[in-house]
Amino acid sequence: MPNKPASQDFAQRVIDWQASHGRHHLPWQQSRDPYRVWLSEIMLQQTQVSTVIGYFERFLTRLPTVTDLAQASEEEVMALWAGLGYYARARHLHACAKTVVNQCQGQFPRTSQELQTLPGIGPSTAAAIAAFCSDERSAILDGNVKRVLARYFGIDGDVSHGTTIKQLWALANSCLPSPSLIGQQPKAMTSYTQGLMDLGATLCTRREPACERCPLADRCVAHHTGRTQELPFKRKAAERPTRELHLLWVTHGSQVLLQRRPDKGIWGRLWCLPMFDSASLAQNAVDDWLAEPLPCTRMASIGHDLTHFRLTLTPWRLALPDTAIPPVIANAAGQWICNQTLANLGLPKPIKTLLVGGNPDTMATDSHQ
Ligand code: ADE
Repeated sequence: MPNKPASQDFAQRVIDWQASHGRHHLPWQQSRDPYRVWLSEIMLQQTQVSTVIGYFERFLTRLPTVTDLAQASEEEVMALWAGLGYYARARHLHACAKTVVNQCQGQFPRTSQELQTLPGIGPSTAAAIAAFCSDERSAILDGNVKRVLARYFGIDGDVSHGTTIKQLWALANSCLPSPSLIGQQPKAMTSYTQGLMDLGATLCTRREPACERCPLADRCVAHHTGRTQELPFKRKAAERPTRELHLLWVTHGSQVLLQRRPDKGIWGRLWCLPMFDSASLAQNAVDDWLAEPLPCTRMASIGHDLTHFRLTLTPWRLALPDTAIPPVIANAAGQWICNQTLANLGLPKPIKTLLVGGNPDTMATDSHQ
């Protein structure tokens, strides 16, 4: 298509590639219901498709409508989210559902402008929802799309820097299918938006982009100049500091002692083993709770990455004899929770692995916000 302007050629190539090579069977693609599309887009922020699918289906089985979500307890929402990380997303999700039900008569707004006014919905997510549900012509710019555009246009600036982000938004807007193209292909915005996401996730990957299969390669600056490894450029974040925390894993029969985390800080509002800054503070707490001092046994430490630091968690195990009187402890320190109910609680991933089992995911990255 030599006579088309470069930006229209870009859009048409993405649309054509999506039709033949893109993803068409993801569970959220089977619907234009804004609730489902919104839920999937929030889950997909910072989390891979393969992880999201199971969470998405479980969530919808339990809470099939925005009204169900608005009426659900925070406990249940956090439990359905536990393991996806970045827990502020779950709190915003719940707040957003309540806003839609209480202020919008249970109907999501249709335009990206209005969607952006809701909790947890930024401009890129709003544009994706509006494109998928209402064919709105508006640009997305998530991490994958930033990479595609930075490579295609050879953008050297730091992609986490405000001026570069502005530049990328301008390019994202300039690449949108034209109104006349949309006139000829009414589903152009859905295909184009999904196509950009699919390109970024499956071909234009961070480490080893498959340029030989990319529909944009012949005009891609990074490909032509051999800079796909350099672009997008992002200044290295300072090494993540490490923080050591000590966990008390106290059980009494089939019950375990858990605390609800405070609103702010690591794992806000999730259930957790009591956490301390040092081993001696943990042992002091046990000594305070018990009439007779009992020693805790140190277990192997677990590494877990959070957004801004790396945690080293050291569990200290104490199985109370049946004769101990647990309520004394529970009043001081948290609540006794039955092993059978653990699966229904919102537990941070490493704590769930420790208590319920499964593979420790020592490289998982959570946000503590
Ligand atoms: N990442 C963000 N949104 C997505 C979507 N709708 N499909 C696949 N990956 C995505």
